[in-house]
Amino acid sequence: MTSMSISESDDPLQHFDHHSEEHAQDPVGDFRAIRERGGFLRSDSHGGFTTLARYEDVVSVAKNHGQFSNANELPGGDGFGGGVTLPHNPSAPRMSLAEMDPPEWHRIRRLLSSSLSNDAVKRFAPQILRVVNELIDRFIESGRCDLVFDICSPVPAIVTLEYLGLPTAEWERWAVPIHTSVYTSRVPGSPDFVKLNESFEWIFEQIREAIADRHRSPRPNDLITDFIRDDGDGPVMDDDLAFETVYTMLAAGVDTTTTLLSTTLFHLSENPHHRAELIENPSLLDTAADEFLRFYSPVQTTARTAIEDAEVSNETFHRGDRILLAWASANRDEHRFPEPDEFKLDRESNRHLSFGHGIHRCIGAPLARQEFIIVMSEILRRLPDFVVDQAQSPMYPDVGLMLGYQRMPATFTPGVVETRSNH
Ligand code: HEM
Repeated sequence: MTSMSISESDDPLQHFDHHSEEHAQDPVGDFRAIRERGGFLRSDSHGGFTTLARYEDVVSVAKNHGQFSNANELPGGDGFGGGVTLPHNPSAPRMSLAEMDPPEWHRIRRLLSSSLSNDAVKRFAPQILRVVNELIDRFIESGRCDLVFDICSPVPAIVTLEYLGLPTAEWERWAVPIHTSVYTSRVPGSPDFVKLNESFEWIFEQIREAIADRHRSPRPNDLITDFIRDDGDGPVMDDDLAFETVYTMLAAGVDTTTTLLSTTLFHLSENPHHRAELIENPSLLDTAADEFLRFYSPVQTTARTAIEDAEVSNETFHRGDRILLAWASANRDEHRFPEPDEFKLDRESNRHLSFGHGIHRCIGAPLARQEFIIVMSEILRRLPDFVVDQAQSPMYPDVGLMLGYQRMPATFTPGVVETRSNH
């Protein structure tokens, strides 16, 4: 970087770390401070990176995939790069298309997009409705549940497993590690880390086994079969890429939706007038979904790497510079959203960036939106007076990537079982 907006050596934000405990105390305040000071912040944490906090700058870099890369390795192979998480986690599998640039990215995106279009995801509606009601039946008579572990985490996990053609019988062995990985200590050797790694080994083994199974017995209308199918020029994906892509759909599709649901439920418990409005008029859920997405921004940030010298609002980046796109900050930019810190259930022209922007914009957005609307409708119908135990509902201690609740015990007036549960 050359000319920085904030570069005084005694600047308290000089060591800004979006993964720190301090940032988790007040992410909205930190991002506001960065916007007020020009919207660019150079930090020396994690080997050095620049946070972009203003809407127009975040959009400009997200659109500019020719100069800002998502890939783990920059073209030229000289060691630059780092993918979409900052810092880069070398022990995690590559996030398939999310960590690829065109032209490689095109092929994978095309393969997935027809199964996740607005029209295509309508086929999941009956499944989502069945799953959420079977889950509610497990606890409705008791008058208590954990909204995160009993609904917000399982629904997206089961739906994504079904979408991928993976068995759902042991859904807890997928859902729990995927959720807990978002906030578990990454200190190598710590007991939580060891336990989590073991759970992920099981998940990785299931994915590898499913790929081997599709080689032995291809299935009709099956995504994994399509991944490894020979299209005349060899397989569409080799087994490693098929593995990464299955993993990515789980990693990108499950806890993101979980956090959107959990922040919404917490908000509704705290704001009974919003809950009453949604119960009165469930068709508001569609517009409300965008305001929950904007206000709480499940994916707070992702990263890019400059491929070559490039300018953004007169700031120069050089090849290899790491950039943090603060989607959550763009969503509160006062130049874009009137009264950005006010939650408005019926906010108009709400062009938030919670699903990203540009070619990498979330491919799962239609599915996530549909899951949100069905799950929320059923919760408001069957547990309309739920009350969250705030004190027992901690947020993620690290909100560098995602913002949500670890768990959320709640009570409500007991109800009756409606379906015969398989889950
Ligand atoms: C509320 C739920 C969700 C949120 C907030 C969310 C957010 C995002 C964001 C911000 C990006 C762009 C990242 C970037 O440009 O760096 C993204 C990309 C992506 N999302 Fe989602 N997502 C959600 C649900 C889903 C679901 C349900 C799936 C899968 C079924 C999914 C799969 C993906 C994939 C594969 C990408 C990469 C797309 C590409 O690089 O072309 N997401 N998501």
